[in-house]
Amino acid sequence: MNLYSFFSTLLILHLAVLIPTLICVESRNVGLKEFISRDDDKTSQGTRWAVLLAGSNGYENYRHQADICHAYQVLKKGGLKDENIIVFMYDDIVFNEYNPRPGVIINNPRGEDVYYGVPKDYIGNDVNVGNFLNVLLGNKSALTGNGSGKVVSSGPKDTIFIYYADHGAAGLLGMPGTSEALYANELHDTLKRKYKAGTYKSMVIYIEACEAGSMFEGLLKPGMNIYVTTASNASESSWGYYCPEDVPPSPSEYTTCLGDLYSIAWLEDSEKYNMKTESLYKQYGVVRRRTIAQNTNPGSHVTQYGDIKQLKNLCMYTYIGTNPENDEYKSSTKTNSKPVQMLSHSINQIDTDLIHFRLQYQKAPEGSKKKTTAWRKYKNAMQQRKYVDGSMDLVGKFLFGTAAKASNVIKAVRPAGQPLVDDWICYKAMVETYEKHCGPFSRYGFKHMRSLANMCNVGVKPDKMADASNYACTTLRKGSLQH
Ligand SMILES: *[C@@H]1O[C@H](CO)[C@@H](O)[C@H](O)[C@H]1NC(C)=O
Ligand SMILES: *[C@@H]1O[C@H](CO)[C@@H](O)[C@H](O)[C@H]1NC(C)=O
Ligand SMILES: *[C@@H]1O[C@H](CO)[C@@H](O)[C@H](O)[C@H]1NC(C)=O
Repeated sequence: MNLYSFFSTLLILHLAVLIPTLICVESRNVGLKEFISRDDDKTSQGTRWAVLLAGSNGYENYRHQADICHAYQVLKKGGLKDENIIVFMYDDIVFNEYNPRPGVIINNPRGEDVYYGVPKDYIGNDVNVGNFLNVLLGNKSALTGNGSGKVVSSGPKDTIFIYYADHGAAGLLGMPGTSEALYANELHDTLKRKYKAGTYKSMVIYIEACEAGSMFEGLLKPGMNIYVTTASNASESSWGYYCPEDVPPSPSEYTTCLGDLYSIAWLEDSEKYNMKTESLYKQYGVVRRRTIAQNTNPGSHVTQYGDIKQLKNLCMYTYIGTNPENDEYKSSTKTNSKPVQMLSHSINQIDTDLIHFRLQYQKAPEGSKKKTTAWRKYKNAMQQRKYVDGSMDLVGKFLFGTAAKASNVIKAVRPAGQPLVDDWICYKAMVETYEKHCGPFSRYGFKHMRSLANMCNVGVKPDKMADASNYACTTLRKGSLQH
């Protein structure tokens, strides 16, 4: 065997291994012969629908709305029409006093504007759970007077793509401000209703949030033609990206992260390559590799849920279209696994607010009002953290006697495949009861929510929580008055 034939054999073997993940099929039940996707839209493909939601507000959470705007640009270039893309974003970033480029939102240090043309379907307080679920269900009448009133009026041939970027906690996803969060059971009730209504062919859901896997773990019933990837597994943080003082950093005039690690990974892959040649599974692999912790760089485990086997070989094109300019850029495992990522770094979603306040403080002129404000915000954030941590310690001791006994319950994580909690009504009531006595958990406090679910799992009832949180937070407030 000469060298040439040796290498071509190697190449063929190599391709044989790669082909199953490289090529995608355009729809289910297509025979192997029709494997490669067709060129036009006149196939059995129905309408592509998309719902994009940024669940936060505030400049320190810039990145979530930036991710969502960027996703809109990708879908738009991919050929989806505005009438089929429904955007939820608080819309307090672009003209925010801290935004160094008024009128512009960027999701990448190179700084192309991603805000241009984004439909403002639901902004401000219209970004809420009820509206999101009604939009998904296509219930137009329920949205009267709310936002644009645009809903997913999908039919049985249509596909739906949902992308959500925000903070999350065990079994829930945040909504802006102090709006009630989206609990996993509510999402799944809605998905079941949508499935029963027969108004989609298949659905892809991408979620950027901490503990995002807990929204699906043990909950998503098979057979509903839904494929999900989450930025993080059920019990870990997800990560901000293009952050100040990081690698690669946001431009120096920004005191906030521009994006999130998982989101940037799927968005930058989708805008670069021909989505007619990339399967869902292929993108999952690319995104997972880019998001995982490497060496000393933190990261998270991108995780798949739902009808993985049935749907993973479908083309990304089926859900998000493709930019014709990328037709020549077939995605390949070699080119977009990005070894440069070894240099990258990312910041825990929970800490991004502190970075913003600290940098605002450092940048403000000595003695200015801006400096005092930034300092006050930083101090408040730190105090709030201490208060939430302290109150949860006291709640644990009140309910279980000692810190050690409490920690068995509080730190428990159920194995993969099991839902976070058996009684979702108990869980939600526990959260509401705590917040009634102690005030909002806020984004930092999200990390304690799993312990409330665990309390339900060992039989603690919300009325017991009322006593515990009342005791804990009265004690803490008394303590702080004495100083
Ligand atoms: C739509 O929403 C309205 C108001 O919330 C409700 O009364 C109605 O039953 C809903 N329709 C469907 C088909 O779910
Ligand atoms: C928005 O929708 C809710 C729920 O359907 C409704 O109660 C409310 O009146 C609507 N808002 C406005 C401004 O009409
Ligand atoms: C989830 O992530 C955490 C933290 O990275 C890790 O310790 C744990 O093993 C992961 N669990 C699963 C099921 O992947």
